[in-house]
Amino acid sequence: MKASIRVCLIAAAACLSASVASAQTFTQPGEGKRLFDGLCQDCHGTNGAGDEAPALNHPLAADDATLHKIIRDGIPERGMPRVRRMTEEEVNVLAAYVRTLGNGKTETVAGNAERGRAVYARLDCSSCHVINGQGGAFGPELSKTGQRRAPSWIRQAILDPGSVRSKGVQGILQNGFTEYLPVSVVEKGGSEVRGFRVNEDSFTIQLRDASGKLYSFRKNDVTNIEKQAGRSLMPPYRDRLTPADTDDLVAWLYSLGRAK
Ligand code: HEC
Ligand code: HEC
Repeated sequence: MKASIRVCLIAAAACLSASVASAQTFTQPGEGKRLFDGLCQDCHGTNGAGDEAPALNHPLAADDATLHKIIRDGIPERGMPRVRRMTEEEVNVLAAYVRTLGNGKTETVAGNAERGRAVYARLDCSSCHVINGQGGAFGPELSKTGQRRAPSWIRQAILDPGSVRSKGVQGILQNGFTEYLPVSVVEKGGSEVRGFRVNEDSFTIQLRDASGKLYSFRKNDVTNIEKQAGRSLMPPYRDRLTPADTDDLVAWLYSLGRAK
């Protein structure tokens, strides 16, 4: 009994001081959005629609404690650094704002997921992507796309790859390099190899091409090395998909990893 009274008192005091602080700094409406736009939007996109980092404008799997921890500490091992030291109040405001991004604002999807599955098979997307254990590993795994990406983002990734960035799918490679950085290497004989950078140091660079073949070049032995961020190694499907097929494909990919 005594103990619980003391807890109440301490809690009340904390409450008081918190509400004084919030009266001074955080009572303005729009504070969450202001913080988000300043600290998070670069990676997570406008209104959390997703960019280099996953979309946040859908119901998140993370419970409140996890969400607070992510905002406070980041997920450094998977490409989300700790943004900066934040007050508890800022963490609360941001967490509440992030939740609103997914409340009722989830984008609606026009297409039919089952038909989309067939489009995916017909266009042989699985030659480069794994879904539920099936497919080639050149591109990122798509099994949880619906948890991480907004429909508009998925659409853009299919129609105009290279205009969206896929870092964040598996974070950054352990050596700190961004995933899926396309590189073109022109050898002295004039032939070109394009692939993803797997590794690089001062003297050598390693690439993997679309067929999965691994190359290693000594920089002194080649004519040119060009990093081509923004030029995807995924072919654009803009001219190969009808609008209806595109809608269906987006619906299929958006359904992956989400509760039905
Ligand atoms: C430098 C880029 C970067 C910045 C800045 C950044 N994030 Fe992230 N964030 C990421 C990446 C990458 C992931 C995915 C990590 C993974 O693979 O799980 C992520 C994941 C998350 C997740 C988990 C998503 C999920 O589906 O569970 C939340 C929530 C989140 N970030 C919120 C924020 C907030 C809020 C801010 C601003 C304070 C922020 N992030 C700033 C890169 C960033
Ligand atoms: C030649 C290999 C290749 C083929 C074929 C291919 N992709 Fe990709 N895809 C990639 C690569 C590589 C990326 C990584 C990002 C980049 O480079 O654009 C990617 C990225 C994606 C992404 C973004 C994933 C994310 O969350 O970051 C989606 C969605 C996607 N592809 C869907 C498809 C669909 C649908 C098809 C079939 C219509 C397809 N891809 C065919 C190689 C391919």
